[in-house]
Amino acid sequence: MRFTVAIDGPAAAGKGTIGRAVAERFGFGHLDTGLLYRAVGARVLAGERAEAAAASLSPDDLADPDALRTPEVAQAASKVAVIPEVRAALLEFQRAFAHRMGGAVLDGRDIGTVICPRAEVKLFVTASAEIRAKRRLDELAARGLDVDYQTVLEDVRARDARDADRAAAPMVAADDALILDTSEMSAEAAIAAAIAAVEAKQAG
Ligand code: C5P
Repeated sequence: MRFTVAIDGPAAAGKGTIGRAVAERFGFGHLDTGLLYRAVGARVLAGERAEAAAASLSPDDLADPDALRTPEVAQAASKVAVIPEVRAALLEFQRAFAHRMGGAVLDGRDIGTVICPRAEVKLFVTASAEIRAKRRLDELAARGLDVDYQTVLEDVRARDARDADRAAAPMVAADDALILDTSEMSAEAAIAAAIAAVEAKQAG
């Protein structure tokens, strides 16, 4: 059985939480595509050219996801993500994952529009920048990273602008995506809405 759930939206809106829960509920595989761009960004910070890093990405680059989940790597990721050659190098891997047997959930920025325009279910998960910054701050603090709210908010806004305004695969909701604004929604309610969307598609 092939079944693809595409989840897009800005940083820290809850895509990962929803994606993991949906994958677990239905036994689907889950791919956080932001990690691919972060891995390329990390190699650029270490001195490589972005195009070369993207073309030679390997599972080793993703072995320590926490090391990639830092504000510095996030900014580097959103800078390499504007480069069409970088996006092209990462496309086939994402599509192959989306079409795997047993179902797949992918979260990112362009899954429903570019990577999987024919995904069975598309969600666009969003929330106000202030609420997303607060969530990201709590996440980073829980991992012992010392950052302040204003810095995180500025990071979130800079990435939002870069991701939405770029020419190559900009972040935008697909026409047929279900929009979930999680600003005033609990994680449980957002997960329930996502699961209901998958069940509705499976039923009919
Ligand atoms: O989702 P995450 O915040 O980890 O993504 C890091 C960066 O990677 C984003 O700010 C965005 O620039 C880029 N990205 C992208 N397309 C995706 C996933 C992430 O351009 N499908």
